[in-house]
Amino acid sequence: MTSPPSIPPHPSPSMKNYTAIITGAGSSEPTGISNGRASAILLAEAGCNVLCVDLSLPWAESTVAMISSSNIPRAIAVAADVTKPEDCERIVKLALDEFGRVDILVNNVGIGGPPGTAVEVDVAAWARGLEVNVTSMMLMAKYAIPAMQLNEPRGDVRGSIVNMGSVAGLRGGTPSLLYPTSKGAIVNMTRAMAAHHARQGIRVNCVCPGMLYTPMMYAGGKMDEETRQKRKERSLLGTEGTAWDCAAVVRFLAGPEARWVTGSVQTVDAGASCATSTDVPNALSSGLKEGGEEEGV
Ligand SMILES: NC(=O)c1ccc[n+]([C@@H]2O[C@H](COP(=O)([O-])OP(=O)(O)OC[C@H]3O[C@@H](n4cnc5c(N)ncnc54)[C@H](O)[C@@H]3O)[C@@H](O)[C@H]2O)c1
Repeated sequence: MTSPPSIPPHPSPSMKNYTAIITGAGSSEPTGISNGRASAILLAEAGCNVLCVDLSLPWAESTVAMISSSNIPRAIAVAADVTKPEDCERIVKLALDEFGRVDILVNNVGIGGPPGTAVEVDVAAWARGLEVNVTSMMLMAKYAIPAMQLNEPRGDVRGSIVNMGSVAGLRGGTPSLLYPTSKGAIVNMTRAMAAHHARQGIRVNCVCPGMLYTPMMYAGGKMDEETRQKRKERSLLGTEGTAWDCAAVVRFLAGPEARWVTGSVQTVDAGASCATSTDVPNALSSGLKEGGEEEGV
């Protein structure tokens, strides 16, 4: 007689006794909600201790103040430059000293970088852009992964990394070359890292947001209403995305409910990247007549 199948453990979204490092967890707007700030707040709300890393200490401290006011787990702000190996090592050491463990790394730092095509772009600024957007993620992983390997597995997982990509890394069509190139590298770096570290119990995933309305986009009056409206209309849902939309997916991928998810690339773009267009007249679309009847192409 065969024994009845065992019931798999019931998933829980709780991240009590987890520790997360979030890079770029500040925001230029004191009360603005950037992707890093939103991720830190949502992870903290799930019960996670959070280390909020930013170039600017006051910006990271504002994030911590938002978390402490909700009074859930512990949050610490630290100033560091994630393009510097010694700073990345220091960040991980601080997490181990303060919280005793590292479970989650959210590699969120990213910049628009220099404008221009291959013909126009400034070569030194190009190299710096790759360093900030891509190399920094490798550096943080370099020090965080050995720390994650010290953890006793929960389920079969010792740690998880979420890399912040962009839909710009999935398709061409953006005016600059640096940004889509660097974000595309992050997409495949995620897959390569996932393959390298899966058997060590470390999951690695990528979030690709579309055109969110975050302080990076609007700070200092950078965006007029017309542009804001056009960005909204580019998506299938036709609605505006915020950093919370992005952070909710970061929280899921980082946490225990995603225990069977690694190497995935998750768009958060209201469908903007899944269709060429929703308003192409039927006559122009792939030889189909009204009602979808084929025209004999
Ligand atoms: N906002 C969007 O519409 C959008 C869309 C797709 C992807 N993204 C990605 O999301 C991430 C965050 O975007 P955001 O809009 O919240 O940006 P943001 O500019 O508001 O926040 C980025 C933070 O990173 C910090 N930072 C920059 N360089 C750093 C360094 N070397 N070391 C430490 N900290 C550093 C900045 O001080 C800033 O606080 C980026 O990777 C960005 O490419 C944003």
